[in-house]
Amino acid sequence: MDGTKDKKYMIKTWGCQMNVHDSEKIAGVVSSLGYRSVEAEEQADLIIFNTCCVREHAELKVYGNLGRLKKLKAERPDLIIAVCGCMTQQREVAEHIAKRYPFVDIVFGTNKIHRLAELIANVKPSGSTIVDIHEDQEGKVIEGIPADRGDSIKAWVAVMHGCDNYCSYCIVPYVRGREKSRKKDQIINELIQLGQEGYKEVTLLGQNVNSYGKDLEGEENFARLLREANRVQGIERIRFMTSHPKDLSQELIYAVRDCHKVCRHIHLPIQSGSNSILKCMNRKYTREQYLELAYRIKAEIPDISLTTDIIVGFPGETEEDFRQTMDIVSRVRFDSAFTFLYSKRRGTPAASMENHVPDHIKHERLKRLLDLTQEITAENNSVLKDKIVEVLVEGVSKTHADRLTGRTSTNKIVHFNSHTHLIGKLAKVKITDPQSWSLYGEEIHESSEN
Ligand code: SAH
Ligand code: SF4
Ligand code: F3S
Repeated sequence: MDGTKDKKYMIKTWGCQMNVHDSEKIAGVVSSLGYRSVEAEEQADLIIFNTCCVREHAELKVYGNLGRLKKLKAERPDLIIAVCGCMTQQREVAEHIAKRYPFVDIVFGTNKIHRLAELIANVKPSGSTIVDIHEDQEGKVIEGIPADRGDSIKAWVAVMHGCDNYCSYCIVPYVRGREKSRKKDQIINELIQLGQEGYKEVTLLGQNVNSYGKDLEGEENFARLLREANRVQGIERIRFMTSHPKDLSQELIYAVRDCHKVCRHIHLPIQSGSNSILKCMNRKYTREQYLELAYRIKAEIPDISLTTDIIVGFPGETEEDFRQTMDIVSRVRFDSAFTFLYSKRRGTPAASMENHVPDHIKHERLKRLLDLTQEITAENNSVLKDKIVEVLVEGVSKTHADRLTGRTSTNKIVHFNSHTHLIGKLAKVKITDPQSWSLYGEEIHESSEN
């Protein structure tokens, strides 16, 4: 592999944590070929775009960035350009990229990372675009791809791939394929290794972790997986996402309650507070069931933080439907909410529904919802004033060299002044100034604690 000596790669990633983790695997593959990472496109011999298509905005950003690469490729014909990720899993998009951006050398699918070395070896200068996307939606989980992780404290670990839920607005099941759980032993072995390597926090990833194990033989389920993960030496914190409300079992609530390493945080996307919209979304729960679940979780685990995703302006959403969403947000009092304007995705059932909501109404509703969610976040955070919280210190603050940044178990960001020896450790911090997006505090030294 002398040809790759001193070669450099750059990966740009859009989308969710699953994509971020896939990029770590891609980095693992290309580093094993001798490439090393650089930040700037201009310095790279290999540029990889790992794309997302969950909303139109994400796709447009990718096309904008791709256009820019044409000039770089013209200046340096040896540059290899690859595009992968969810966008390319749609055959028409893969073909569009090959046709409209012929300077792209490789288009590969989310399930083809293990083939990347071979694809790179097959690239010919000024040859046509190599397209290798996965068509086999039933495909197996590929194990053993080394991840070159971007962090030494926190690690992403996929527990399952794909999604079977077919929410009517969502493209993910079409591009990521059917639900496939990794074998429990593979996951636990990965966690053991991460613990030995000094990682302190893991986030277990899946589009719907609560249905983990349904496709496996035996009795595996997510609650049991959490209990086993909780026993892994070295790992101090376990997070997971995302939970679909329809599959969140009482057994899982007990597992979160009982396992001291499992963080006090559940991301539980609600999407809408209106029963008729939830039905059209194919979410398979009602607002009453969601509320009951949220109250049940809070009753069992009082210090839990609940966060959510909400879509505004789903086809047919009336002012009354939207008020139901505002109402449920006020009742559950989420610690934070990711709010999205509905985006039409080709091929999904919602795209062909009637009564699409005009843009100006969507924007007006989004603003009202944002005002409400931010007010609730600020109120929830204000309760933490003068409280002592445990923070896993992640690093130095991006804006202040003498300030450290970390997170509480409830996933709130905390900034406080201290020294870098605390990085990667759990620290006790007294919150002095809770704000909406983050909390400011001061370190409590063990000796001053009583
Ligand atoms: N599997 C996860 C999240 C997947 S996508 C889950 O079900 O919770 C992340 C979020 O994007 C979704 O929760 C939803 O709120 C949002 N989303 C998905 N498709 C969308 C669309 N077409 N328009 C707007 N938001 C969308
Ligand atoms: Fe999309 Fe629904 Fe699957 Fe989440 S659960 S990925 S929103 S289809
Ligand atoms: Fe986007 Fe694919 Fe994730 S569509 S949100 S990168 S699963």
